[in-house]
Amino acid sequence: MKKIIVTLSLIILSGIAVKAQNKKPFLWGVATAAYQVEGGYQTDGKGESKWDYLTNKVGVTQFLIGEKQTANVAINMYDRTQYLKDIELMKKLGVNSYRFSLDWSRIIPDGTGAVNEKALAHYDQLIDDVKAAGLEPIVTLYHFDYPFVLMQKGGWGNPDMIKWYTKYASIVLNRYGKKVKKFITFNEPYIEFFLVETLLNFDQSKASESVRYAQQMHKAHNQLVANATVTKLYHKLKLGGLIGITLNLAPGVPWNANNPKDVKAAKFQDLLLNRLFLDPLFKGKYPKEAIDSLHKYDPTFKPSAKDMALIASQKPDFLGINYYQPAIVKHEDSQMTTKWVENNPDTIKANTGPVRPEYLYKTLMRLKNEYGNPITLITENGTGYKTEDRRIGNKVSDPLRADYIKRHISAALQAKKEGANLIGYTVWSGWDNFEWVFGYTKRFGLIYVDFDTQERIPKQSYFEYQKIIQENIKL
Ligand code: BGC
Repeated sequence: MKKIIVTLSLIILSGIAVKAQNKKPFLWGVATAAYQVEGGYQTDGKGESKWDYLTNKVGVTQFLIGEKQTANVAINMYDRTQYLKDIELMKKLGVNSYRFSLDWSRIIPDGTGAVNEKALAHYDQLIDDVKAAGLEPIVTLYHFDYPFVLMQKGGWGNPDMIKWYTKYASIVLNRYGKKVKKFITFNEPYIEFFLVETLLNFDQSKASESVRYAQQMHKAHNQLVANATVTKLYHKLKLGGLIGITLNLAPGVPWNANNPKDVKAAKFQDLLLNRLFLDPLFKGKYPKEAIDSLHKYDPTFKPSAKDMALIASQKPDFLGINYYQPAIVKHEDSQMTTKWVENNPDTIKANTGPVRPEYLYKTLMRLKNEYGNPITLITENGTGYKTEDRRIGNKVSDPLRADYIKRHISAALQAKKEGANLIGYTVWSGWDNFEWVFGYTKRFGLIYVDFDTQERIPKQSYFEYQKIIQENIKL
């Protein structure tokens, strides 16, 4: 009898625990990344990062906007007085989470050696301030920036990056793991390597674009191994939170569905952009078709069985999804011979810009149906304009962004209703900030920033998002 009662109460208690787990409120958030917002370029002993170097020394924004811009000041969020005001704006907005990244070159200025206590103390304070405001901190360990000295050693092309990154990550996880319950190892490996590095050709290699494109696979693989290594380490620490990775996902959509060449090109884009990362992360292996195509340009990519076993054994606890628009793909005959043109990355032209929320829905449903329905968190969704945000006096109207956000949230919630394991939605970005190679010419924020005075003005989209959160508070 006693045994039955004990068993029954255990069942009831575990039922309550499961219920409590399921009752966790839906996460509504905004996101930033260290380099794009912090400024404080040389404050508190910060080392030079890859992006400090690219903006200050190479003048990388000149490639696209013809003007040298840096994030040395950015939107001044390293400054506590400033970020406390920004936290107030998040509170008023009604979000319950804030995704931000840490700058490796602040924490270990020379990449591999001494730890900078001042930087660690700064992030400690930031995390405490975020939590004190009732927001859950979601911490990205690495968002495109790493110490420049490591770039000189080959960056992610050098397999030693795995151990250097693991050292950095282990410092962060040990220091903040008790108070941060969601960590993201990497942000968007595809964009970092295949898009930005290939297009900008930082290393000035003489190889053709397709060869460079294929070579980036080595870097992406090293990141995936580093992701698995750190995921394993995190679980060993038993800190009771979740660790995941963020991918930018976008279905490949043919420009003309009746043109078989476009259909094929769209499939190929899907292979490189989505499956090349989703398959190893959730199925433990790279898609053969992707590797075969990349091998045509660089046959040296041969991941070891040990690496693959590690990747296969360390599924992320959750998947961060950055979604902006589908990749609309048009086949183009290039100057290369048509024999191998179908699989040539140079033929892929993604037409960025279309507002197609249904592809966010499809992405979430695909994860449910094809990848075992992992826990997903939309870690970025938003839209950037050069001239659409209109400031008149103290008001900024951005009807296109307000509409964009509304429609994407509704698509995401529809997928959730149909069983997608979605735990939250995050807007990129809370604030206008330094938009990489576009410098300050493209604004993504819910909050307008005057880059000269650091004045903040909530835009129309901020109030739209506020309303949506209020309407869905019970989710
Ligand atoms: C990145 C952000 C970036 C945003 C808008 C994402 O690819 O994670 O850092 O600002 O897109 O382009």
